[in-house]
Amino acid sequence: MISSKLIYLAILSSLPISTLANTYAECQKPKAQGYQLQGCPNGTLYVSQTDPQAGYGTIQSAIQGLPNDNSTQYILVGSGNYHEVVNVTRQGPLTIMGITSSPSDYTSNTVKLFNSSFINQTSQTTSQDNADAVVLTISPSRNASLVGSGPLGAPLQTLFGSSDFRLYNIDVANRATVNGIEYTAGDTGPSAALFVSYANASFYECTFSSYQDTLYVGRNGSAIFVGGEITGTTDFIYGFGTAYFQNTTLSSRNTGGGLVAWKGSEQWYGPNTFGAYFNNSKIVKAADANATLDLTGTRALGRPWNNQSRVVYMNTYMSDIVLPQGFVEWSSSDPRVFPNVTHFIESGSYGPGYNASARNYSIESFISSEEAKNQYSVSKVFGEFPSWVDSNYVYN
Ligand SMILES: *[C@@H]1O[C@H](CO)[C@@H](O)[C@H](O)[C@H]1NC(C)=O
Ligand SMILES: *[C@@H]1O[C@H](CO)[C@@H](O)[C@H](O)[C@H]1NC(C)=O
Ligand SMILES: *[C@@H]1O[C@H](CO)[C@@H](O)[C@H](O)[C@H]1NC(C)=O
Ligand SMILES: *[C@@H]1O[C@H](CO)[C@@H](O)[C@H](O)[C@H]1NC(C)=O
Ligand SMILES: *[C@@H]1O[C@H](CO)[C@@H](O)[C@H](O)[C@H]1NC(C)=O
Ligand SMILES: *[C@@H]1O[C@H](CO)[C@@H](O)[C@H](O)[C@H]1NC(C)=O
Ligand SMILES: *[C@@H]1O[C@H](CO)[C@@H](O)[C@H](O)[C@H]1NC(C)=O
Ligand SMILES: *[C@@H]1O[C@H](CO)[C@@H](O)[C@H](O)[C@H]1NC(C)=O
Ligand SMILES: *[C@@H]1O[C@H](CO)[C@@H](O)[C@H](O)[C@H]1NC(C)=O
Ligand SMILES: *[C@@H]1O[C@H](CO)[C@@H](O)[C@H](O)[C@H]1NC(C)=O
Ligand SMILES: *[C@@H]1O[C@H](CO)[C@@H](O)[C@H](O)[C@H]1NC(C)=O
Ligand SMILES: *[C@@H]1O[C@H](CO)[C@@H](O)[C@H](O)[C@H]1NC(C)=O
Repeated sequence: MISSKLIYLAILSSLPISTLANTYAECQKPKAQGYQLQGCPNGTLYVSQTDPQAGYGTIQSAIQGLPNDNSTQYILVGSGNYHEVVNVTRQGPLTIMGITSSPSDYTSNTVKLFNSSFINQTSQTTSQDNADAVVLTISPSRNASLVGSGPLGAPLQTLFGSSDFRLYNIDVANRATVNGIEYTAGDTGPSAALFVSYANASFYECTFSSYQDTLYVGRNGSAIFVGGEITGTTDFIYGFGTAYFQNTTLSSRNTGGGLVAWKGSEQWYGPNTFGAYFNNSKIVKAADANATLDLTGTRALGRPWNNQSRVVYMNTYMSDIVLPQGFVEWSSSDPRVFPNVTHFIESGSYGPGYNASARNYSIESFISSEEAKNQYSVSKVFGEFPSWVDSNYVYN
């Protein structure tokens, strides 16, 4: 007879094991006054709006307190609302963590970083760029972060932003206010929560919210997002670089453009391996969208910022807000869709917004999960499993 202990062990080992280890859970735990930064890497700087023992009251002042070198640095941010703009220009690895008792649940985040700005495209001057209305920028300089008249011809290798930036459990919002009121009626113009250019950056259970053009991964930018939520309206995920999303919720506050507008390589940029990739993600109406606004069947999965656009959705839940035809042209007068040049792809989509018979197969294609793994796993997209991510969270 088999002992009950053996049966118990057999049952235990057949249960699915949650492999998610929250790397900095101990460090991120709420701190009492008179704290010790227990569980935090040595030398961690502490930012708090309420604790007099913290060395810094704003996130940007702590960043300015770091040496401008290649050393690895850590910043822990106490609970609170931080009304500021944050730029990370240093090259060395930097990890910023928000205090939380639930690191694997972004809805429990206690650190909110926000500012309010947008580019009015009607009155925009030639010196203004989308890069001037951003809350969190990871880029070596303003020049390097420009979307428009940026340093296109500059030798790419001469610009180095962060080699390894990591953000945990922080909500980043651009509130795009007009006369002090959040402009919820539609788009004000480009208004970003996040910019990444000439840098490698990863984000764990963070949220990025705004309206138009919320999240940008630009020239020589590589970014990986795990968990969390991206919220916006028109083209709210856009860029030229490489952005990979795992287990991320895409939330729409309104219609306009596509969920994604991506641009592929330019001549000077080498082979086009750039794009926006989603695995195990979710497309929904934002919880804070106008409740009576009917978004059913309105949201295009993506549109081509240029004809070398690449956008891939894998194993993604699509609520009924998704446009039945899936992807769209840029516009009817300027379609920008070229066979075998533009890559709009789905694999394993499911949910009421996945309408297989209505999809526009002349501009997108479906691939099997095997093909998706062979072509669009993290290692395939980045050429190798990136050294600059937290492998407790990122899967291949
Ligand atoms: C961190 O600091 C403690 C106390 O000063 C020291 O014992 C430990 O070796 C340090 N750890 C590392 C990884 O530097
Ligand atoms: C960081 O390291 C790189 C490569 O070793 C070097 O070229 C660069 O000058 C260093 N940056 C700083 C700010 O020290
Ligand atoms: C930050 O927001 C304030 C309004 O709260 C605005 O005046 C300022 O221009 C914004 N800064 C940036 C760099 O976007
Ligand atoms: C950094 O922040 C300031 C506003 O505080 C902004 O003017 C500047 O362009 C930002 N970007 C970079 C990459 O330094
Ligand atoms: C930014 O680019 C402009 C135009 O190319 C150039 O004149 C300026 O010197 C650059 N600034 C920096 C800090 O590199
Ligand atoms: C920019 O991209 C080019 C082409 O992929 C690459 O060779 C170069 O190392 C990248 N530069 C930086 C700063 O990441
Ligand atoms: C980003 O990481 C890649 C390796 O994955 C490296 O070649 C590149 O130089 C890094 N970029 C920066 C700005 O450090
Ligand atoms: C943008 O600028 C135009 C022209 O100056 C103005 O009429 C409009 O109200 C501005 N939009 C917003 C959202 O401020
Ligand atoms: C919400 O949407 C309804 C229907 O589209 C519209 O009539 C109403 O003005 C909107 N409310 C706000 C606050 O934008
Ligand atoms: C696209 O590529 C496939 C496979 O390489 C090829 O069979 C097809 O003819 C190409 N289509 C066009 C329009 O070039
Ligand atoms: C997507 O995620 C699942 C894990 O849930 C994994 O098995 C699969 O290989 C991933 N797909 C790709 C293309 O990485
Ligand atoms: C992502 O989702 C997959 C499938 O639902 C799950 O197995 C995995 O643990 C999740 N990863 C994270 C980091 O949440």
